[in-house]
Amino acid sequence: MKVKFGVDEWRIIEQEFDPAANRFSESIFSLGNEHMGLRGFFEEDYSGDSLPGTYLAGVFYPDKTRVGWWKIGYPEFFAKMINSANWIGVKIASGGASLDLAQCRIRDFRRELDMKEGRLTRSFVWSGADGRETACCFTRFLSMAENNLACLAVEITPLNYAGTLSLTPYLDGDVVNEDANYAEQFWEEVAQTVASDWALLVMRTKKSEFTVATAMAVQLFLDRDEVFPSREAIAAPQKVGWSCEVQVEQGQKLTLHKLIAVCTSRDYPVAGLNEICLAKLRGAAAQGYAALWAEHRREMTRKWEESDLTIRGDHLAQQGIRYNIFQLNQTYTGKDPRLNIGPKGFTGEKYGGGTYWDTEAFCFPFYLYTDPEVARNLLYYRYLHLQRARENAAQLGLKGALYPMVTVDGRECHNEWEITFEEIHRNGAIAYAIYQYTEYTGDSSYLIQYGLEVLVELSRFWASRVTYQPRRDQYLILGVTGPNEYENNVNNNWYTNTMAAWTLEYTLNSLETVRRGAGAALERLVARLGLDPSELRQWAAIIAKMYYPRCEAAGIFEQNDQYLDKEMQLVSELDPAELPLNKHWSWDRILRSNFIKQADVLQGLYFFPERFDRECLRRNFDFYEPRTVHESSLSASVHSILASRIGYRDKAYELYLRTARLDLDNYNADTDDGVHLTSMAGSWLAIVQGFAGMLVREGRLQLNPYVPAQWQGYSFQIAFRGRKLKLEIAADRVCIRQLSGEALSLDIWGRECLTQPGQRTVIPARPESAPRVQDAG
Ligand code: BGC
Repeated sequence: MKVKFGVDEWRIIEQEFDPAANRFSESIFSLGNEHMGLRGFFEEDYSGDSLPGTYLAGVFYPDKTRVGWWKIGYPEFFAKMINSANWIGVKIASGGASLDLAQCRIRDFRRELDMKEGRLTRSFVWSGADGRETACCFTRFLSMAENNLACLAVEITPLNYAGTLSLTPYLDGDVVNEDANYAEQFWEEVAQTVASDWALLVMRTKKSEFTVATAMAVQLFLDRDEVFPSREAIAAPQKVGWSCEVQVEQGQKLTLHKLIAVCTSRDYPVAGLNEICLAKLRGAAAQGYAALWAEHRREMTRKWEESDLTIRGDHLAQQGIRYNIFQLNQTYTGKDPRLNIGPKGFTGEKYGGGTYWDTEAFCFPFYLYTDPEVARNLLYYRYLHLQRARENAAQLGLKGALYPMVTVDGRECHNEWEITFEEIHRNGAIAYAIYQYTEYTGDSSYLIQYGLEVLVELSRFWASRVTYQPRRDQYLILGVTGPNEYENNVNNNWYTNTMAAWTLEYTLNSLETVRRGAGAALERLVARLGLDPSELRQWAAIIAKMYYPRCEAAGIFEQNDQYLDKEMQLVSELDPAELPLNKHWSWDRILRSNFIKQADVLQGLYFFPERFDRECLRRNFDFYEPRTVHESSLSASVHSILASRIGYRDKAYELYLRTARLDLDNYNADTDDGVHLTSMAGSWLAIVQGFAGMLVREGRLQLNPYVPAQWQGYSFQIAFRGRKLKLEIAADRVCIRQLSGEALSLDIWGRECLTQPGQRTVIPARPESAPRVQDAG
């Protein structure tokens, strides 16, 4: 795999501008701050190929569904996170020539994403046709401290001439989505104002009627001195700004600071929106660029203190995992429970910015282990959508709640019947996240207040979706698609049946737990939901008689009925030129083959390590992994974790590499349309749950760590039941620094050990040496 970017532990460095790979770089150099995000497109005009993207979390357009053949139950629209007003724009001209990297000659190009500080810079020397050499440098950041604000700095220095530089900072609401079903314009202008020192553009989405106010203020400096050239206002439809000209001496640096405030009607009443936005802008202007930058950096430092993962002895791996953590933190900080994590975050249009099962199955543990409050907000997001999930189930003629396959506001957006109606295992992942949260934190308050209601509705769904087959005296689940989307409309997907029965069981257990701990709350819930004892009896019957396909001879679970009737082939027998299959084979051929897109049976074995022993896991892994093409970005991480659990260390590392640098190395040649954000969480899990073997069983933290041969060691921090622990793993020992909270008893390599607040406990790998306690220092 070709490493395109300079290898550095904290930075992503690009040293050559390649117009043919522009979209790829734009994805990689995306920034976000939970409230908004943007791809790495340019401030100045660019006439080459580009996918400009400026996104606002939770602001969507209901793009009318387009399908070949309408099926009852399809959603009316796909809610898309849409490209919104471009606020980075600054046109640049020198001596009448305009800067455009698709047309101009440049040298010494360098683009650098500083992940520690959350800042993107780009610099080059522009060599004009007339021999003029102009140094240009652009810096931008989206404040993590005050997420309505963003700043950019443009520095221009004439290197071998004195002359007039012209700058036109602007806001442009005339933007489109490439992914628009009917090439519609999603925005209309509401208002605009260009004052002497600020400009405001107010746009509204059609249909969904989100109003967005974007305001900018600009300061100009010649070297260190502020200058005030006369500004000519631009006030075109959907566009505001000024242009100005500044006379600059050779070697003098002209700097433009553009401060931006963006406020939406999602957060503020429309009536006062413009004033709020302008007040934020004025506040930012009073603070100035340097103070805003310092505030942002402080917040970045805090974020990294919670979530950094260091790897000793492998810079490439270190850069990869930091990039993934960086993008996760830029996309979702958990401050707003109305928001969630799209598979591409703020880095592209694909998947519409919607929420998938990816959140619960892959992202959730990352947030749970680093900041459980954030994880709680992710759960609460689903609670807020419960009513819509009930409506969704009812629309399909079912009871209880079916969460959507894809959603922004709780309504289903997906419109391929074999997925929308059949990939119902997503309900299982939502129940599993409630379980994980309660088990990991030991805090039942979420379960009591919100979780149990969700579980009851999920159970009602499963109870109405199963089929009782009297001939076999068994419950079946017919017509589903499992996680492996290379099999559609199958019967008895083992994973789906397992998740369904487990959800019923967990719900029954939770009802009992809540009855014991909060009987009055339970009574109220039972009355409100009209929960009848006959329902509970039915759930118990389904658990007892659920059918699980298996192959006794091979000692494996069968992915679904008739999977083993297929012609059996291994991925290693395929001509590599045919991979990825989804780009080379007809859909029909893929469906008929035994090739698996992503973990399916193995996803279930991953979720329930206490139910299936290592031998069972090994047999299933040995059977399914060689038939898996890993054509979902979510696949490799789960397989890597399972390989670690079995003890297949080389395999675990090989699969880990596929997930850790998936985007930086453009592994699947598909990062152009955005990074694979949800799979980035999987790479973190491959280290923490895989190499470090972290699990919580019956409230007890357990680690069974090893260090991949390619590394010297690694460390990460977790938050566990009121404590913060920093774990440093080396081949011969584990060191635990307890940063806060009460003493903790945990198991490392199956041995019990105790950590104390403020102390560093060293646990040697060899059992004969006793743990040592040192001052944390
Ligand atoms: C995967 C799904 C996943 C979706 C979004 C698909 O390719 O098969 O499991 O939810 O991508 O990441």
